[in-house]
Amino acid sequence: MATTTVFNLFKTGDKVLLNCDLYGGTYRYADKLFTRQGIDFELVDDVNQLTAADLSDNVKAIFIETPSNPLLRVIDIQRLSDLAHENDCLVVIDNTFMTPYLQRPFELGADIVVYSATKYLSGHSDIIAGLVTVENDELAAEIKVLQSTLGNILSPNDSYHLIQGIKTLTVRMDKQEENTKQIIQFLENHPRVANVYYPGSSSAVEAEIQNRQASGIGAVFSIELVPEASPEKFVDGLEIINLAVSLGGVESLVCHPASMTHDYYSPELREKIGISEALLRCAIGIENANDLINDLEQALEKSI
Ligand SMILES: Cc1ncc(COP(=O)(O)O)c(C=O)c1O
Repeated sequence: MATTTVFNLFKTGDKVLLNCDLYGGTYRYADKLFTRQGIDFELVDDVNQLTAADLSDNVKAIFIETPSNPLLRVIDIQRLSDLAHENDCLVVIDNTFMTPYLQRPFELGADIVVYSATKYLSGHSDIIAGLVTVENDELAAEIKVLQSTLGNILSPNDSYHLIQGIKTLTVRMDKQEENTKQIIQFLENHPRVANVYYPGSSSAVEAEIQNRQASGIGAVFSIELVPEASPEKFVDGLEIINLAVSLGGVESLVCHPASMTHDYYSPELREKIGISEALLRCAIGIENANDLINDLEQALEKSI
C-alpha cells in the first residue's frame, strides 16, 4: 500500500531507478504497472556506483532497500541523496528491515521513507499495513491526496494494533538482533553452511557504510548450504522455525526467495543478481536463542 501510493507520484515519461534485489512485489509493480503507464524503470546492479551520468533528466526517483532483500547488500544513503538532489531527483528508502529504531534515512538526506508495517512495526504478524513518511509539507499533501484517492487507508482496528506494536518495537528489535548475532556466529562456523549474508558481510566497504548509517544489523539474514546439503531437507527438518514469506514478527521464519518472495523475477534475472535456488532467507524472532540454534543444528544434521 505504501509503495503503491509513492509510485503514483510518477507519470508517463518519468523514469525510476531501483536497486536490483528488492522485495519481489516492488519489482512486480514496476514491471507490470510502470510499463503499462509508460514509466521507464531500471534495476541497478550496484547503486553505490551510480554517478550523475546515470541520472538522465527523466529520472525522477531512486527507490532502494538498504539492506536489500534477500542479499542484504548495503547502499550509502547519504551519498545517494547528495547525488540525487544535485540532479533534481527524489530518494525513496524502503526502511522495512532496519525500522526507524536502527536507521533514520531522513537524517541522511532521504525524501520519502516507506515501511511495510506488516513486519517489525506491528511485530506480531497479525495485520497488513504500510507507512509512508515524509518531512516536506508539499510532498505530504500530495501523498495524502493519492492515499485517499487510491483507497490505501488502514482500518481503525488495524491502526490500533499497529500503535500497540510500535510501543514494543525497541524491546523486540534488541532481542531479535541479539538472537541473530548469536545465530550468525553459529552458522558461519558450521561445516554445512557455505555462505551467510547479512548487512555488511559482502565487503569491508559495505560494512563501513552499515556501521556509519545504522545502529545495528537487524534480524534478517540469508544462507546457502554446501552443495551436498539439501535446502528442502533442511527446511523440512526445522521444528521451531516455520517456512513462510513474511518477516519481522516475534516468531522466527525461513523463506525460499526463488520460489516465494522473489518468484516474479525470471530465473535468468535471479541468477544474474545472485538469488540462487539454494538461498534461504531467515528472519529471527524473540524465542530463546539456544532453542533456535538447537533447531537449526538438528535440521542441518538432517540436510544430507
Ligand atoms: C522490504 C519489503 N517492503 C515491502 C513489502 C510489502 O509489504 P506488505 O506485505 O506489507 O504489503 C515487503 C513484504 O515482504 C518487504 O519485505
